[in-house]
Amino acid sequence: MTFTPAPWPRTLRSQEWYGGTSRDNIYHRGWLKNQGYPDDLFDGRPVIGILNTWSDLTPCNGHLRELAEKVKAGVWEAGGFPVEVPVFSASENTFRPTAMMYRNLAAMAVEEVMRAQPIDGAVLLVGCDKTTPSLMMGAASTDIPSIVVTGGPMLNGWFKGERMGSGTALWQMSEDIKAGKMTQEDFLAAEQAMSRSSGTCNTMGTASTMASMAEALGMALSGNAAIPGVDSRRRVMAQMTGRRIVQMVKDDLKPSDIMTKQAFENAIRCNGAIGGSTNAVIHLLALAGRVGVDLTLDDWDRCGRDVPTIVNLMPSGKYLMEEFFYAGGLPVVLKRLSEAGMLHDDALTVSGTTIGEEVAGAQNWNDDVILPVEKALAASGGIAVLRGNLAPNGAVLKPSAASPHLMKHRGRAVVFEDIDDYKARINDDALDIDENCVMVLKNCGPKGYPGMSEVGNMGLPPKVLKKGITDMVRISDARMSGTAYGTVVLHTAPEAAAGGPLAVVRTGDMIELDVEARRIHLDISDDELAARLAAWTPAAPMFTSGYSKLFVDMVEGADTGADFGILKGNRGNEVPRDSH
Ligand code: FES
Repeated sequence: MTFTPAPWPRTLRSQEWYGGTSRDNIYHRGWLKNQGYPDDLFDGRPVIGILNTWSDLTPCNGHLRELAEKVKAGVWEAGGFPVEVPVFSASENTFRPTAMMYRNLAAMAVEEVMRAQPIDGAVLLVGCDKTTPSLMMGAASTDIPSIVVTGGPMLNGWFKGERMGSGTALWQMSEDIKAGKMTQEDFLAAEQAMSRSSGTCNTMGTASTMASMAEALGMALSGNAAIPGVDSRRRVMAQMTGRRIVQMVKDDLKPSDIMTKQAFENAIRCNGAIGGSTNAVIHLLALAGRVGVDLTLDDWDRCGRDVPTIVNLMPSGKYLMEEFFYAGGLPVVLKRLSEAGMLHDDALTVSGTTIGEEVAGAQNWNDDVILPVEKALAASGGIAVLRGNLAPNGAVLKPSAASPHLMKHRGRAVVFEDIDDYKARINDDALDIDENCVMVLKNCGPKGYPGMSEVGNMGLPPKVLKKGITDMVRISDARMSGTAYGTVVLHTAPEAAAGGPLAVVRTGDMIELDVEARRIHLDISDDELAARLAAWTPAAPMFTSGYSKLFVDMVEGADTGADFGILKGNRGNEVPRDSH
């Protein structure tokens, strides 16, 4: 990919606010000068917005104010003018019903903040699951030069000599409590051990996956994804990012120059190699929609199908992000993909060079963390896209987190109409269910459980767990946490609340899953399915006003990224003139 930098010097968009002698220019400059800025800062140098998702209630991003100072230092050093701007921070661990319901709102807010203000370039300071895609989506829709720097993962959790992976350990211990294998006292004692430093989840969950996706897309400096949040090299990365964005503005290196179809294909293959989160499917589809790249679920299956999972991290494997960093981090993985002919080497990155050049010198320091191909966790580690009469628009499954013996399975459906029905019955020993059944959860898609909560990896019934069984086939229109595992069919589309076939599955129906054949099938006749669908009626609207109603009315299917239709596309950064 060849990129020709724009000529410099030239007049930047911030000069419309700060550059002249009109009443409006004096108004804008004068107000900012109340912070003590000298005249020469308004001389046409790049104004860099540091879009900060820091919040006390987004603890994963709790250290981003310190990192923002390092970004600022880098911007100053490179001759830019840094301005820190707080933006919507969708916290994964506090937002209800789910942070995903607010991803589009955050993206919309970021887009408008960037366009409406005198920002020539942006540093997207992110970390927690939804903060990364939401800011990238907003930036993509303005096409203002932008670069991602993440907060980095927490240090390893340890409890009683065992690694404690964020989320993964919690799901495991919760099942152990139900199975009578762990005491409540130990469960409580493990709480602090799971989160022992600043940073994001330390597993290859959604946060680490999205940090890796940003790097694989070329939107972050090489090596960014894995540096722990508290490592001094994270601060160096922030400072270098601040330096780099200034040159990106001068060169006019925009998101649309970087996030091409090739870049998305690189990211999809990278996701397979790292055993990344299924949430990346939704976020990358939405992000592609913002830059106008034609990306589909079929691209996920096509590109990921032959990619082995070589990163031995929880939830698929054994280690955590700290060890991934020490082993060499994402550049090693990208280099492996390159050597296997699975990387578009010439894809451009924020550095101004190609991704192939960026990773050429990467070295693996621990081949039990970044495995040789012959020891891959899954030979075909890419996200599997399933289709059939149960999911005409597709559903996804993460092979590296699934049980090999369940990848081809036929079982009797046990249906839960919604999450409340599931919670009310799952612990009842009278529930007619065994390990060969297929658990079906309805009405948890983007509209049905607004935002599509991460409940797809629903816990197994205690009476099955007590037999020592740890996995069953589960099917829903929900998402699952990137830290979760199991033979779990997710994102079934169309969703039940929109009248998809999932809505008419009944307890006792037989369901066939065949991951190799990419098939998910409800074993009833076409006539019977048509009759059930004709008799189906939608539930009464859950909301009649407010953002919740807007979300349910506007959100599209998981198979296209669950964005709002009106937010798709790159709307550029032209803005009406002042109204003062
Ligand atoms: Fe925020 Fe995992 S909950 S990074």
